[in-house]
Amino acid sequence: MKSNGGLSKQVYIYTVSAVGAFILFTNLPRFRDTSQIAEFLFMFLLVAIGEIAPVTIPHGSGTVSVSPPMNYTVTVLYGPAAGIWVNSLATLRKRDLSGEVPIRLVLFNRGMLAISMFMFAKTYEAAGGVFGMLEWPEGFIAFLTAAIVESLFNAILFASYYSLDSGMSFLGVWRLNIQWTLPSMLALYPLGILMILVAQQGGPFLLTLFYLPLLTVRYFLNKYIELRTAYREMATALSNAIDARDAYTRGHSERVAEYAALLAKELKLPEDRIELIRYVGLLHDVGKIGIRDAIMKKQGAYTYEEYEEMKTHAKLGAQMLSGVSFLGEGQEWVKYHHERWDGKGFPDGLKGEEIPLEARIIACADAFDAMTTDRPYKAKLTLAEAKEELKRCSGTQFDPEVVDAMIRIIDRMIAQGRWK
Ligand SMILES: [Fe+2]
Ligand SMILES: [Fe+2]
Repeated sequence: MKSNGGLSKQVYIYTVSAVGAFILFTNLPRFRDTSQIAEFLFMFLLVAIGEIAPVTIPHGSGTVSVSPPMNYTVTVLYGPAAGIWVNSLATLRKRDLSGEVPIRLVLFNRGMLAISMFMFAKTYEAAGGVFGMLEWPEGFIAFLTAAIVESLFNAILFASYYSLDSGMSFLGVWRLNIQWTLPSMLALYPLGILMILVAQQGGPFLLTLFYLPLLTVRYFLNKYIELRTAYREMATALSNAIDARDAYTRGHSERVAEYAALLAKELKLPEDRIELIRYVGLLHDVGKIGIRDAIMKKQGAYTYEEYEEMKTHAKLGAQMLSGVSFLGEGQEWVKYHHERWDGKGFPDGLKGEEIPLEARIIACADAFDAMTTDRPYKAKLTLAEAKEELKRCSGTQFDPEVVDAMIRIIDRMIAQGRWK
């Protein structure tokens, strides 16, 4: 089965590459005069520069570039051959050239791009578009039809590869990796029309203007990403310092952050909430820094007074974080991470939905990690036992909905072989 999949993948990759190469070499760009060659080279360079350093979207969901509308512009103004060459060859990225991407995939991508732009050109022509000039309204309609066909071809060729590579069904790939990119593709079509009109009026050199906003966005986005990385690193360093106070909780905060983020995702919280929960998960026990060593390092059961002092870590942690503006209401979640669904928790004895959802999530993640790691006073539970324990405490200690989500996560992880 596996070797069959591997073989059809190879055949697919080489077929797309070969068809692409055929299209490229049977469509050699021809130019009227040297000034048109200069214009073409300029646009080729503009696309190439845009691709070498694309803007990466936070959360790792891809890159932003103005290449697609730029490539449509080249095709409409300079004809199919020029467009196919720019789309296929000017879009080589740094990692394609550095050997980071295997050469057969680099060739596959070139083939895929050549085929898609070929389809754009053919559709544009068939729909009544004229090369060298975009006219209202026939040209606009032809352009939009052609752009949709190009996007679909690109998406189908890519999804087929991804499906063969991952063993996932074509529809699965479509839903997971393609569907959500289509609206942002649609947003690029009007930009394509605008670029063509600008180049038509003022010459292709004016297209540089479109790069200025892109460069500005890239600069600030990179700053933003650096800043977020710095936050994350600081929070992780602090969480290690918290966990180091207790020899038995090494990695506790990082695991709680991870489980809490998985739970938040499972409960369909928005992306920025998930991000914040991760930070708060890392820092939920920060108040332990203020608890005496004699208590922190104590082996065996606490006395009543010691337990009361230990309990102050929740409120203390929230106070410590009250000046950290980017955590926002996250400090509340730290304060309430030991509240219980039945109102028997601390510090305020909040009940049910009075406790912020995020605090209920962190409470469940926190308890689950305590169950599944060895502690001085008790051995860890197996996953099956931890599941039973979560169910047993559902509706008393924990929010039943959060427990249900945690059980789904555990089952999925077991099914994927990530937990045993
Ligand atoms: Fe705690
Ligand atoms: Fe904890």
